[in-house]
Amino acid sequence: MADNEGNIAAKDYGIGVPQKQEGFFLKGNENASYGIKSRLSQVFNQKSGHTVMLAFDHGFIMGPTSGLERIDLTINPLIQYSDCIMCTRGILRSVVPPTCNKPISYRFDSGTTILTSLNDETLHDVEEAIRLNVSLMAVMVAIGDPDHEGSTIRNLTKTVDYGMRYGIPTLGVTAVGKNLTRDARYLGLATRVCAENGANVIKTYYCDEGFEKVTNGCPVPIVIAGGKKLPEKDALALARNAIDQGAAGVDMGRNIFQSDSPVGMLLAVREIVHNGATVDQAFDCYETYKNTGTCNCCCCGK
Ligand code: R5P
Repeated sequence: MADNEGNIAAKDYGIGVPQKQEGFFLKGNENASYGIKSRLSQVFNQKSGHTVMLAFDHGFIMGPTSGLERIDLTINPLIQYSDCIMCTRGILRSVVPPTCNKPISYRFDSGTTILTSLNDETLHDVEEAIRLNVSLMAVMVAIGDPDHEGSTIRNLTKTVDYGMRYGIPTLGVTAVGKNLTRDARYLGLATRVCAENGANVIKTYYCDEGFEKVTNGCPVPIVIAGGKKLPEKDALALARNAIDQGAAGVDMGRNIFQSDSPVGMLLAVREIVHNGATVDQAFDCYETYKNTGTCNCCCCGK
């Protein structure tokens, strides 16, 4: 306890030694506030500079998606192997244990479903994000959608303003839509628009041609969604290619929770994202875990 008596005189001032200043490890966020940097440091591994986010927010537009019928049974056991979870507030409150101790990428908008038009979104209260102690506010941006482009960019702008006020980073999510082409020209434009409007991190899709242009043209980190379920080796190749071409991680759902070994797949993806594994090495990790319930990868720890 602080006291007035018996104090040792302060003398170790390090005179002549400049105070250490560290740069920030994530591109484009050097000038962000303390709260934003602190939360981004929870989401991204400071050693690799990358993240493996586990996405299970699909129900907010798709209902009980295959693999997400019982999140308590299928997803909760996976959470420990992820760096961050991406989900809705309904699932957080009803199913995800607050003791899981993982940073949360909170689906901060709600709107129309696959039954109607998609992308007609509204924002939640920022107080809700604070109450839930989230590390990212994720908001959909439907660039090129004639009906919803303006309103979703306004949603992004408002989210960034909230984030600046309270120190919570914004994840701009480039939208899905029937008429939106996932090529480098479109993805490059969409990610850049999100970044120009202040998003701290962008989630988008990988494309086979010219993805490097997408990552290089975006001044903040990009994480990729996995998309629909692929054979495991193809999904691992997707992750490898994305990282090699400048992605800062994955925000992956179906290719993990719809796999025949979700833990094996998550560990294999981690090997690629954090440890530089080749596709073959990662696939071996997946298969070994699937067949034996353990493996020798760096992430498994068993
Ligand atoms: C889509 O609306 C959701 O935001 C998902 O989080 C996202 O698409 C990633 O999941 P998946 O890897 O299954 O595409």
